[in-house]
Amino acid sequence: MKIEVVKKHFQKWAKKYDSSNRERMIPCFHDFYGTVVNMISEKRNIAINILELGTGTGMLTELILSSYPKAKITGIDLTDEMLSQAEKKLKKLKNRLTLKRGDFSSTSFGNNFDAVISSLSIHHLTPDGKKKLYKKIYISLKKGGIFINADLVKSESVYIQKLYMKKWEGFMRSGRVDENNIKRRLQGVKKVDIYDTFEDQLDWLKGAGFEDVDVFWKYWNFAVFGGLKKITV
Ligand SMILES: C[S@@+](CC[C@H](N)C(=O)[O-])C[C@H]1O[C@@H](n2cnc3c(N)ncnc32)[C@H](O)[C@@H]1O
Repeated sequence: MKIEVVKKHFQKWAKKYDSSNRERMIPCFHDFYGTVVNMISEKRNIAINILELGTGTGMLTELILSSYPKAKITGIDLTDEMLSQAEKKLKKLKNRLTLKRGDFSSTSFGNNFDAVISSLSIHHLTPDGKKKLYKKIYISLKKGGIFINADLVKSESVYIQKLYMKKWEGFMRSGRVDENNIKRRLQGVKKVDIYDTFEDQLDWLKGAGFEDVDVFWKYWNFAVFGGLKKITV
């Protein structure tokens, strides 16, 4: 996938992204994002350092900063257009937020994070790109840190995959999502999305060094999965 194609896609979509009725485009919206929030930590009042890959307009960022009042987030995104929407929306939380424009597949992350999170962004990378990114994420985590990815995955079964895509389209239509938004999303599936199975991705996480990996939540082709970096490594 050429990064320029992904960039253009989101530059165009940025202003309409939040008003495209995300709750009706993503089945089980609250569970999908809520699982990321809940998996970060049992304790809410702790000072944690989080890296977010593909911040976009700050949908997940806002949820996390308001659920963890002492957390700090560094958010990386490809486009100024998406980040400026996030900046506007998260003005009140700006003391705990650093936004950086860049490509997370080529930016270095350092090694100081308690959690690395991402939603609906890593599926734009090829399998090779995902494997390399998972290695970088592992290195960027402190011992005991967690990686959580809420993303689109594909089924191992071609038949079930087709069924999921049909169900997803039906879900958007039943929620009366604007036809242009449905069209744009389905074009995105063909133009900028690269789906891999969660089974492969858990293997790639193990290959990157994570010993404890799992799918934390799944519905159709939407999954939240990740891994923990052992305290004893
Ligand atoms: C579908 S949006 C998701 C935004 C947000 N995480 C959410 O859940 O609403 C995907 C975002 O990932 C960003 N993105 C995709 N590939 C990227 C890359 N290689 N590096 C940095 N950002 C990337 C896009 O610019 C876009 O803002």
